Amino acid sequence: MKIHDSHALPVFVAAEKRYDQMQFRRCGKSGILLPMLSLGLWHNFGHTDDTTTGRRILRAAFDHGITHFDLANNYGPPFGAAEENFGRMFRKDFQPYRDELIISSKAGWDMWPGPYGNFGSRKYLIASLDQSLSRMGLDYVDIFYSHRPDPHTPLEETMGALHQIVQQGKALYVGISQYDAKLTAKAAKLLKSMGTPCLIHQPRYSMFDRWVEPALLDTLKEKGIGAIAFSPLEQGVLTNKYLKGMPKTSRAVKDGRYLTKEQITPAILNKVKSLNEIAMGRDQSLAQMAIAWLLKDERITSVLVGVSSTKQLLDNVKALDHLKFTKRELSKIETILKAD
Ligand SMILES: NC(=O)c1ccc[n+]([C@@H]2O[C@H](COP(=O)([O-])OP(=O)(O)OC[C@H]3O[C@@H](n4cnc5c(N)ncnc54)[C@H](OP(=O)(O)O)[C@@H]3O)[C@@H](O)[C@H]2O)c1
Repeated sequence: MKIHDSHALPVFVAAEKRYDQMQFRRCGKSGILLPMLSLGLWHNFGHTDDTTTGRRILRAAFDHGITHFDLANNYGPPFGAAEENFGRMFRKDFQPYRDELIISSKAGWDMWPGPYGNFGSRKYLIASLDQSLSRMGLDYVDIFYSHRPDPHTPLEETMGALHQIVQQGKALYVGISQYDAKLTAKAAKLLKSMGTPCLIHQPRYSMFDRWVEPALLDTLKEKGIGAIAFSPLEQGVLTNKYLKGMPKTSRAVKDGRYLTKEQITPAILNKVKSLNEIAMGRDQSLAQMAIAWLLKDERITSVLVGVSSTKQLLDNVKALDHLKFTKRELSKIETILKAD
């Protein structure tokens, strides 16, 4: 395996004006404000990726007021690599800025062999966070998530583990990911009874995946829980990149683990093309419009993007310059999304 390392960059001094442009939203009913755009390290920060590019992306993000970096135990490849690489970059560049950052991690998906490295047991969550902290070289994370519901572990045990982690000082806040509305309400009630509020929910949400709309977003609002939408660009499909073929450097071609070329069907590309025309009419890139479309709902605290270059990051940051939609634009978008 080739590990590209990044010693060549000059010492990082964060831009003085880093907070001038970024807009922040309160995360539910908490004391925490999150940038409306956050950065995820699921892809592009593994041991097969160029860490100089990764380091540049993190620097540019922070320089533009993106104070929230999202990780998980198994981000890589291989599992753990994104946290290891982030730890190295953090030590080189971000140590002086630790108190300006919200760093999150998660456990819930497959991580290590045997029965204690997956799902939602107390054993797994606590051991996994200890490993994450050691990989990143941190004393604590700001947010620790149960990465997915576990149908076999009592919810009391999973939420009890999150509470215990906060009591131990290993996380300041806790959240859940991909829990449905009913389970979210139950989880929030349990956490509240223990004295550890649920800060945030991390659901998958994009123009193409709207499962949160019928119930979850109302539950979050009612319970005072923030929402951070992941895969808002459908892993790159909701951009103009696949409109002229399959770029060699794209996730569908280069990676193919979670997004394959076959998934990007002509029917999907037709919709993307029509959406792209609306975006152009708004003087936005499609990526920008897809982000703005999520943020038009104030229940969405932040949109969590991934990027493979600084250029993409800067394109996405500009989404915040134009968040309003006319009724006509919204109705045209709705027609495209609902067409067979
Ligand atoms: N809680 C969970 O279960 C869960 C699951 C998945 C993700 N997440 C979190 O959500 C984060 C984001 O997920 P994601 O990476 O799937 O998000 P995404 O923003 O939907 O997709 C990211 C990909 O879109 C492309 N892209 C981004 N900006 C672009 C632009 N301006 N123009 C053209 N292409 C652009 C890039 O693809 P190319 O690489 O092809 O250039 C990039 O790698 C993850 O890093 C992780 O933190 C959480």
